[in-house]
Amino acid sequence: MIKKEFLLTFKGLNSRTSLWLMRQAGRYLPEYRELRVKAKNFMDFCFNPELAAEATLQPIRRFGFDAAIIFSDILVIPYAFGQSVDFIEGVGPKLSSLPLVDILNSDRLIFENNKLLNVFKAIKIVKDQLPKEVSLIGFSGCPWTLACYMVDQGSSKDFFKTRLLAVTRPDLFQKLINILADAVFLYLKHQIEAGAEAVQLFDSWVGLLPPDGVWKWSISPVSSIISKLKNYYPSIPIIVFPKGNYQTYADNYHIHKADAISADTTVDFSKVKIASERPYVIQGNLDPFDLLGATSALKNKVDNTLKTMQGKKFIFNLGHGILPETPIDNVYRLVEQVKAT
Ligand code: CP3
Repeated sequence: MIKKEFLLTFKGLNSRTSLWLMRQAGRYLPEYRELRVKAKNFMDFCFNPELAAEATLQPIRRFGFDAAIIFSDILVIPYAFGQSVDFIEGVGPKLSSLPLVDILNSDRLIFENNKLLNVFKAIKIVKDQLPKEVSLIGFSGCPWTLACYMVDQGSSKDFFKTRLLAVTRPDLFQKLINILADAVFLYLKHQIEAGAEAVQLFDSWVGLLPPDGVWKWSISPVSSIISKLKNYYPSIPIIVFPKGNYQTYADNYHIHKADAISADTTVDFSKVKIASERPYVIQGNLDPFDLLGATSALKNKVDNTLKTMQGKKFIFNLGHGILPETPIDNVYRLVEQVKAT
């Protein structure tokens, strides 16, 4: 019988610790770098179903992770709202200016799901080729994090423009969050229909918000996305990654009802609730930098985590994306060590 250890973890029926790594497809792999040059830019790469499927499968072939995550980016949603998205080498993403205030006032911010059909195509290709014991994860950014990139038009250290808009025009900002929540729901629903067996919601910038902001702009829209998805697909696991705000999500599990919370590197696993006291799975949270250090230190750290989390509704992952500088041998060692538990 083929066992999907990753999915079984959500039912408490796994026979060992399962693992996958955030950004497991990427520049640390020579085969990824070779594939990446076949597209003229990063967005074309994401929207080429064959290339995206191949990038998804590369880390599975090499390491045998328990889950694959569809190769794409959270910024395909701003693109589907009509913003152009360019990834500039060494700088990061740059989004075109959208006269958001005017557009929101005139109800002209339209999500064109059709622009994302190639993501669903890529999911179908991956599903045909994925080993049967490996699960496929779909994903999206959360409304707050997407709003950050859309309003600030790219990466930023403090997302000043977004936070300014949220406090000076809260009604308008609420409208943007609501429109994004509808789009994220639709996008994830289509990913599940195409074959995604679980989904992860990335709220990478929720750590910037004060407590009332976390409620308004993160937990509230994320809860509505989750409850709408659960109406259609009650058994598809939903993971949230509230980077910088694990505790608020852990304390309010009964509100958002995600099946798993992905912990960032700041969370101390010796202090998290034991399995019988929480219905959700915890995922995480090795510091990606630990994969750049001495192998003995890495081994000890992973051992500690595995001991602390043994039998505790746990999926091994990183606390943030794998770094391009990561030595591949350390990833092989990590997979072997985790799979042995
Ligand atoms: O393997 C996987 O995890 C699936 C693919 C994936 C990518 N981005 C591919 C990617 C996923 C799940 C993401 C999520 C994502 N993208 C997030 C949320 C998680 C997080 O990191 O907080 C965010 C904020 C983005 C936006 C984004 N994409 C930025 C800011 C950048 C530039 C920084 C960088 O690392 O280069 C990207 C680019 C990006 N997305 C790359 C990859 C593999 C690197 C670009 C390349 O290969 O040329």
